[in-house]
Amino acid sequence: MLVHSAAQVLTLAGGPQRGSRLGELGLIEDGAVLIRSGNILETGRSSDLLNKYPDEETLDVGGKVVLPGFVDPHTHVIWAGDRAAEFELRLQGKSYLEIMEAGGGIVSTVRETRKASLKQLKDQTRLRLKSMLAHGTTTLEAKTGYGLNSETELLMLQALLELDQEEPLDIVLTYLGAHAVPPEYEGNTPGYTDLVCKEMIPALAEWWPAQTKGSFPYIDVFCETGAFDLDQSRQILETAKANGFPIKIHADEFDNLGGVSLAVELGAASADHLVVTSPEDIKALGGSDTVAVALPCTPFGLAESDYTPAKAIIEAGGILAIATDLNPGTAWCESMQFAAALACRYMKLTPKQAIAAATINAAAAIGMDKKIGSLEPGKQADLIVLNISDYRHIGYRFGTNLVEFVIKQGQVYQG
Ligand code: NIG
Ligand code: FE
Repeated sequence: MLVHSAAQVLTLAGGPQRGSRLGELGLIEDGAVLIRSGNILETGRSSDLLNKYPDEETLDVGGKVVLPGFVDPHTHVIWAGDRAAEFELRLQGKSYLEIMEAGGGIVSTVRETRKASLKQLKDQTRLRLKSMLAHGTTTLEAKTGYGLNSETELLMLQALLELDQEEPLDIVLTYLGAHAVPPEYEGNTPGYTDLVCKEMIPALAEWWPAQTKGSFPYIDVFCETGAFDLDQSRQILETAKANGFPIKIHADEFDNLGGVSLAVELGAASADHLVVTSPEDIKALGGSDTVAVALPCTPFGLAESDYTPAKAIIEAGGILAIATDLNPGTAWCESMQFAAALACRYMKLTPKQAIAAATINAAAAIGMDKKIGSLEPGKQADLIVLNISDYRHIGYRFGTNLVEFVIKQGQVYQG
């Protein structure tokens, strides 16, 4: 199939965009993309490709913008229930950490999730996946973390593996058994940390190969006051590595505990949130391949005013990505378009920087940049057609869906 006559095709060719390279769109005016068997064969000017492939089935996208499907590299898409009541409490003045300390927050979603069956988990999650696809996301990362015991964490993984098979979206999995301390270990974080390291991670290492031939999931930890401190985070991530798992970290959402430098030291694929990150930690990111994943929907969702210091990360030479952080507590948002709009306003990214952060760099954050995140020969044909004629409308506009079509591995879906 030849997708042609786009006002602009943004290829994002050339690999992850470090530091000041962020924003190289590889823009082709009057562009076209040739797709065969779910992969990209060629990109170029419409006139050239229409001449070269006269018998090809065509899709005329006259006047629109075509770019790689968004990659959402940080989501907690699977959970049961909702936290609307907490939203109301926050509006009345309670903070997220106060609610968490009072037994609400993540743990209240854990109570709901532990009660849910596999089918219920899948049914609730599927709705969110469909919404993500309609908003232009073609691959996402999905974390467990609302089970906080082996049984429920593995049930969440099973649901995600099945949804990955059933739904058009590709799902990259992350095990977040260390998302919070469950009620049965309240006041005993070291005890739960030991459980994660001595029982839950080994159980995962045994369970996974029996389910799928796919490579091991990431293991992630919430390194934060009220969750896991720096030593406990190190213990968990080192155990993960020793068991052969790639790693990620949640760090600096509220307090700077040094999680970013730990992530860099241990070679984590990404360090995520990064709101109160210190200059020293930013410097560490600059010299590493650990991708800095900013989650602007989270401070927005919490009505807070501090966002990831993107400019400093870019100046230090870091690889910056953005994600939604889709979750029931702080950011129920399925739209990378909205994350981009926030990143432009509050992190001062330009639209082209936000687009690179949401595609090729986001793919790098989940180890997928060789396969997706740009429109280059040999890559998977994951692309979106937006109902705009100038790419800067991404970021500029918000609150409506700009997607006309989503093409996932060559299959066309409506936005
Ligand atoms: O990324 N920071 C930890 N986890 C989520 C919040 C999850 C929740 O509140 O349910 C986050 O913001
Ligand atoms: Fe998160």
